[in-house]
Amino acid sequence: MKYITYNEKTNVFSLRTNHSMYQMQVREHDTLVHLYYGANVGDTEITHRIISLDRGFSGNPYEAGEDRTFSLDVLPQEYSGYGNGDYRINSMEAQHEDGSDALHLRYECYKMMEGKYSLKGLPAMFGSAEEAETLEIVLYDRISNLKVHLLYGVFPELDVITRAVRIENQGEKTVTIQRAMSMEMDYPNKHMDFIHFYGRHTMERMMERLPLHHGVQSVESKRGTSSHQHNPFVILCDKATTETHGDCYGFALVYSGNYKCEIEVDQMEQTRLTMGIHPYHFSIRLNTGDVFETPEVIMAYSDAGLERLSHIFHDAYRSNLIRSKYVNTPRPILVNNWEATYFNFDEEKLFQIAKAGKDIGLDLFVLDDGWFGKRNSDYTGLGDWVVNEDKIKGGLPKLVERINGIGMKFGLWIEPEMVSEDSDLYREHPDWCLRIPQRHMNRSRHQLNLDITRKEVRDHIMGQIFKVMDSCNVEYIKWDMNRSVDNVYSMALPAERQGEVFHRYMLGVYEMMEQLVQRYPDLLFENCSGGGGRFDAGMLYYSPQIWCSDNTDAVDRLKIQYGTSFGYPISTMGAHVSVCPNHQTGRSTPFETRGVVASAGTFGFELDLEKLTPEEKELARRQIREYKETEHLVQTGDYYRLTSPFKNNDYVVWQFVSKDKKESIVNGVMLRNEANPHIHLIWLRGLEPDQYYKDMASGAVYTGAALMKAGIPLPVGIGDYQPITFRFERQ
Ligand code: DGJ
Repeated sequence: MKYITYNEKTNVFSLRTNHSMYQMQVREHDTLVHLYYGANVGDTEITHRIISLDRGFSGNPYEAGEDRTFSLDVLPQEYSGYGNGDYRINSMEAQHEDGSDALHLRYECYKMMEGKYSLKGLPAMFGSAEEAETLEIVLYDRISNLKVHLLYGVFPELDVITRAVRIENQGEKTVTIQRAMSMEMDYPNKHMDFIHFYGRHTMERMMERLPLHHGVQSVESKRGTSSHQHNPFVILCDKATTETHGDCYGFALVYSGNYKCEIEVDQMEQTRLTMGIHPYHFSIRLNTGDVFETPEVIMAYSDAGLERLSHIFHDAYRSNLIRSKYVNTPRPILVNNWEATYFNFDEEKLFQIAKAGKDIGLDLFVLDDGWFGKRNSDYTGLGDWVVNEDKIKGGLPKLVERINGIGMKFGLWIEPEMVSEDSDLYREHPDWCLRIPQRHMNRSRHQLNLDITRKEVRDHIMGQIFKVMDSCNVEYIKWDMNRSVDNVYSMALPAERQGEVFHRYMLGVYEMMEQLVQRYPDLLFENCSGGGGRFDAGMLYYSPQIWCSDNTDAVDRLKIQYGTSFGYPISTMGAHVSVCPNHQTGRSTPFETRGVVASAGTFGFELDLEKLTPEEKELARRQIREYKETEHLVQTGDYYRLTSPFKNNDYVVWQFVSKDKKESIVNGVMLRNEANPHIHLIWLRGLEPDQYYKDMASGAVYTGAALMKAGIPLPVGIGDYQPITFRFERQ
């Protein structure tokens, strides 16, 4: 084992990546204490920061005897249990048959393995023996005989450490797990900021940076999805940390359901972060021999600011999380009919949009909502995955053949987790949705969540969808999910297992998605939940792209895509050129600007192409051509946030640099023009300082150092909402 070591003399475990180090130690009374996470510190074991003092009102475990200085209330721990005299937020709570809920987790043993561990039925990073190593540390509770396996995946090249927990009941009695975080991280000081990404439908992942304060701060979702409201990716950083300087830590939960990330600054100015499934409406009954696995958290540390942290996550996801063959290959550029027609279309209209798409150089036509059952509005039809031949005369195979016939691929929208009350499925199986006995259901978009915990429901829905997909050449699927999970009760589970519904729902969704990607390995799969309501690492395990937001306004998208870029690769963000005035904001922006913004993502169109003017068609052709020329930068290059839309109201600029540093594009939007304007300079990043780069538009040649240290002026006096574009090639 090269990157994980255990020092038998000091009982210190060290995990190393190329630029980070993680240490923990088995100390008094078999307590697993967290020592350090941060920059590589060589072979020093960071034991000197643990100083034991007698602290008033911080109790001592029985084994400590007369030693009043040993208290779990103040020690940094790897994975804390409830009922130990540690009054901070903790990682795990379990209720025993006698009603008690104490857990005394003590170190038992460890195991190291080549390659990365995997989790049953859950998305997680994968890694071969060459890419990753695994450490498994077993803690146990002597009285209940619960074994808690702490799993660590170490990816040296990627600078990433993953964590998850496997809980096994080896006792004779049933134990109910009430809280099982995926990880805990204890820091010795509180002088950090907390960065998180909040939002709402159509305004997802707004960035907020707050100082940590005493007490508990948290972000969470209780909506059964990772949610538009709070993304399950957070950052802790030093107060002085910027894009390009300073220490920061990122934590990403590989899960798409309820979650909680809590951060507590305690009485000793220590900081504890826990992240995992939300304890709300969560209880898992483990009978003898049963095992429960938590989802995974991906952690990374950067000593070179937020930009480097983002690069770590981008690279890790692209190489060892996203499995799709499309992850690093050009994606077909699509036109989606949703904003063009909504529910109002027939087969001829769809064909004409596809044809207009072909004419401007597009590759794929996507048929969105409204093609099945009696789906003429969002009040009906969900659950009936049978083509509506009143709308699509001759059926889907005929339409797809026609579309394929002009050289366009065909893609289809589905929403498998839902049912409309006005549907054949609901009339036949009213008990197949989540609903609480005797209570009226809460509706949302007038639809109900199917009880995805039930296998017969999953099989029925996927069976219908597979039948449609097998009947014609579907090369892309958009999987949508348009309400939060509610009425949380499964008719198929006994009362004592209702606390498992949220998690079983997620396992069911993952199982359905796994079936889809296994059955159609060449499929281009896009996730969506009313835009970006499930934009998380869990979903990226199944689909290489996610519809970033239902908001297609180029100006709002600047903030949405900026916030998303902290934790997620740019190539995962679905982004489309739509019509103006924009349907969500009423704002009008130039066609070029919409193209520039959508090109910083998985590029596509979502408007009635038949209505484009000849000039717009020409612009669209150019955008498509240029995107195809530079798409590899979006897919495999490094992304630089040159300005922040949350700080700069005048312009927003970003940059891509190819990994070999031979090419770079700089794009942006001039938001607000002023009379007698300033000369706005931007400073490029990521280039070779002593190499020459040519500005492909003007022909001017600069050293990389000149572009990065002296900067370049933005175009002057171009007007509001105008696009900014530069392209550089190394000479
Ligand atoms: C929400 C999605 O985000 C939209 O793109 C569209 O597919 C609608 N649902 C269709 O109902």
